[in-house]
Amino acid sequence: MAFGNTSIAPVRILILGTGSMANEHAKAYKAHPNAQIFAAVDLDADKCANFCDKHDIPHQFTDLAEAIDWDGFDAASNVTPDAAHFATTKSLIAAGKDILCEKPLATSQVEAQELASLAKTSGIINMINLSYRNVPAVQGAAQLVATGALGNCRHFEASYLQSWLTQPAWGDWRTSPVWLWRLSTSHGSKGVLGDVGIHILDFVSYIAGSQAADVSCQLKTFAKAQDDRIGDYVLDANDSCAMTLTLENGAMGVVSASRFASGHHNDLKLRIYGDRGGLEVSFQQGQGVLKTCLGADLQTETWTEVACETGYDLFDHFVTSVQMKVPCFPDFETGARLQSVLDAAERSSLDNSKKVVI
Ligand SMILES: NC(=O)c1ccc[n+]([C@@H]2O[C@H](COP(=O)([O-])OP(=O)(O)OC[C@H]3O[C@@H](n4cnc5c(N)ncnc54)[C@H](O)[C@@H]3O)[C@@H](O)[C@H]2O)c1
Repeated sequence: MAFGNTSIAPVRILILGTGSMANEHAKAYKAHPNAQIFAAVDLDADKCANFCDKHDIPHQFTDLAEAIDWDGFDAASNVTPDAAHFATTKSLIAAGKDILCEKPLATSQVEAQELASLAKTSGIINMINLSYRNVPAVQGAAQLVATGALGNCRHFEASYLQSWLTQPAWGDWRTSPVWLWRLSTSHGSKGVLGDVGIHILDFVSYIAGSQAADVSCQLKTFAKAQDDRIGDYVLDANDSCAMTLTLENGAMGVVSASRFASGHHNDLKLRIYGDRGGLEVSFQQGQGVLKTCLGADLQTETWTEVACETGYDLFDHFVTSVQMKVPCFPDFETGARLQSVLDAAERSSLDNSKKVVI
């Protein structure tokens, strides 16, 4: 990790939402010499207290408004569930705080765009946690495409495969609110599309260096429980998605994501082909690998693994940007743009997979 300026006062961080992902944020800030976690907020007081004990955090609140009144922090990590992002991020922007918000930025394009516009007008540093950008193979692939090594991008295939509905790798989804809210639209979930589809869509557009122009999508929700509900959770959010996408650079391809991909714990793959070569990026069992077929290798269909440098880290980028007061990326605009693809994919699925222009 390449750290920024250690001679300036550390950034005082507040972590909002102290569930499972908040631990990743805490670990990253604790490892950073220019960040100090000053406070945490969770509606659940016990959860917040345990989190603060675990990570040595001095101040705790059960209400964001109280923390804002207290005002002892510079920047916030918003790690609440998707449905809470909009209202909480809006309050943080109004308070002039720099924000790293978990993906997806909101639960609709309208709300995501409102946050992006408010963040821009207020001048706060804003970032969305598209965490796979930290994978060196992803950075390597994006750089390779940007140099023109593949020529004109023509075709791609991408998938994000998880299996937490068929194996208890992350605990039992039937009994855990952490997983149940992800299965229920009334709890703000956009299903697999919003949960991990956003990551694989970012994989495609970031590496290809081109935004989605149109999408045709099919979403499917599978029966998982009696009467499709468990307690308060109506299990109506999509579990699998399959889409055809055209990018602004003219390339077309397929993108899929599922929580029913038995045998795949958390695997991402992108293959992208241009008129001068192809590349494959995979992330499996926590390891990213980049392979290319370029130049003379095209004749023999030889694929070669490419070493990629480590060094890029979203948390470091955020902390450094807050210290230096410079913009950081991926920003809320990127989040809003991805949200427009999610919304278009949903509209397409409701209309018999009709192509929707983004
Ligand atoms: N970038 C990634 O790779 C990645 C990975 C996992 C999760 N996420 C995202 O992180 C976010 C959190 O996911 P999680 O798995 O930690 O969820 P979680 O359910 O484990 O934790 C969320 C916590 O937020 C609290 N909370 C809810 N509303 C709140 C509010 N208004 N104010 C304060 N606290 C509130 C809940 O009590 C809970 O403790 C989600 O948006 C999810 O999509 C991102």
